[in-house]
Amino acid sequence: MKTIQVNLGSRSYQIHVESGLMDRISSILSEENHGQKWIIISQHRLMELFGFNLMENLKHNGFNSDYITLPTGEAAKSLNEFSRIISQMIEMNCDRSTTILALGGGVVGDVAGFAAASFMRGIDYYQIPTSLLAMVDSSIGGKTGINIAEGKNLVGAIYQPKSVFVDPTLLESLPREEVISGLGEIIKYGAIQDNAFFSEISHALDNLESFSFEKAIYRSCEIKADIVSKDEYEEGLRRILNFGHTIGHALEAHFGYGKLRHGEAVSYGMICAGWISNQLGNLLKNDYQDLKVTIEKLPLPLLNKFDQNQILPFIKNDKKNMSGKLHFVILDGLGSASTTNDVSDDLILNSLKEIQ
Ligand code: GLY
Repeated sequence: MKTIQVNLGSRSYQIHVESGLMDRISSILSEENHGQKWIIISQHRLMELFGFNLMENLKHNGFNSDYITLPTGEAAKSLNEFSRIISQMIEMNCDRSTTILALGGGVVGDVAGFAAASFMRGIDYYQIPTSLLAMVDSSIGGKTGINIAEGKNLVGAIYQPKSVFVDPTLLESLPREEVISGLGEIIKYGAIQDNAFFSEISHALDNLESFSFEKAIYRSCEIKADIVSKDEYEEGLRRILNFGHTIGHALEAHFGYGKLRHGEAVSYGMICAGWISNQLGNLLKNDYQDLKVTIEKLPLPLLNKFDQNQILPFIKNDKKNMSGKLHFVILDGLGSASTTNDVSDDLILNSLKEIQ
């Protein structure tokens, strides 16, 4: 088993990456079992694929375990669902010793993590990501939260898990397009932090059928762990993880959540952000082309024609949430990123031409 350390003083934890890890989770967690209740928070489909098996293993090893399911999609990140989890946990006689296992993609991890952060002022939880995106990004770093009518992730907390268990073989049970949509986040890690990794991924994408997920996941987790260890509360460095996200989020909101997957929207957002980096004089034309060609190796859905002006209000909305400052992530080269507040509306509008 390969292990990566997230260094956060008393909140430090490990990310375990290993094919077949799922079957060993209950024995690894045995040391942490002191007779408390263990609640798996997941979704029906994921319980059927992996969760019931995990619960069986837990019970077999003497764990007092139960489960709660959430609906699929962003609907799970609502105040209603959050409050339903808390009520169910009370009904199940959960207390401050209860431990949550968040089994799922980004949505499950966010809600289950926030339930852990707030139930009786905070209880332990573990992340068991099942989507590529969650394996390399959302399960690491403690961002938890829910959506409210006024916007996404407006209620939440940075609350670190006790460990993250990544089993890349889980991806084999998921629809291929769902897995592939997360590859953009892996390209992102190379683009912002590791030129050699970027080239390796770009090369590997020429033959998607034999792509080695485990290796790519491991390196991505290492990069994320390193960045989070240096800037847990996103006061500076951590912002570079949002490369491609400003325009990506806006595209996602414009086309509708669920219509364009998060990873796909971010991939398009990275092309735009790469183009902007070149226009600002930070990224060489060749490097931008390299980035674009690499992203275009992914089977991204074609975007329906859109009016570029309709994208800007979503970006302004993002800006509003950051004291009027848009921390736009640009590349200073392949493998190096920084943020700037100086990206004009015109530049953003023109960048959208690159993806139409
Ligand atoms: N997903 C970006 C971050 O965790 O900071």
